[in-house]
Amino acid sequence: MHAEEFTPAFTMEGQFIGFVADGPKLKYLKLLSSQREYWFKLPKDQRASEDWDLKPQEWIKVSGERKQDRKTGTFKLKAHEVHRTTTALASAPKPQAKILVCGKSDCWKRGAREVCQALQETLQQQGLDQHITIVKTGCMDRCKAGPNVVIMPSKARHTRVQPSDVPALVKECSQSKSLV
Ligand code: FES
Repeated sequence: MHAEEFTPAFTMEGQFIGFVADGPKLKYLKLLSSQREYWFKLPKDQRASEDWDLKPQEWIKVSGERKQDRKTGTFKLKAHEVHRTTTALASAPKPQAKILVCGKSDCWKRGAREVCQALQETLQQQGLDQHITIVKTGCMDRCKAGPNVVIMPSKARHTRVQPSDVPALVKECSQSKSLV
């Protein structure tokens, strides 16, 4: 017996995160909604990057269809239309997200300076520098486990942070409650 598919229409609102490319063409649009990341397959005639001028964190509404393979239980989301939602932009909450980096000498010698630089670059590249603030702090009393970083408002602590950890830290911070 073949697995069945059903295709209910859906509309979902959230913040645009970015695209996933397949070679020179865009294939998926990524949306953050209710602290979850969703991928939508783009229509075949809208896969050129010049078709789009969305910016990260912009509020959008995606309409399309959702397919489920009943055999595997997996879902696929296919976008038919994407619109900006200006009302959501106007009512978007002021984010209070911060990334605290210990700025004292033990952490600094262990690489906190490089972590700060990587944070600045990553936030700028992802268009998040207006939404997430980097704050240098005093000693966090974990000097031997430096560089020490705390994500706010979740207060999640991270020790022995390396520049290579920065993308994951930024993702964690951008998905915190204050940004959605
Ligand atoms: S110097 Fe960074 S925790 Fe003490």
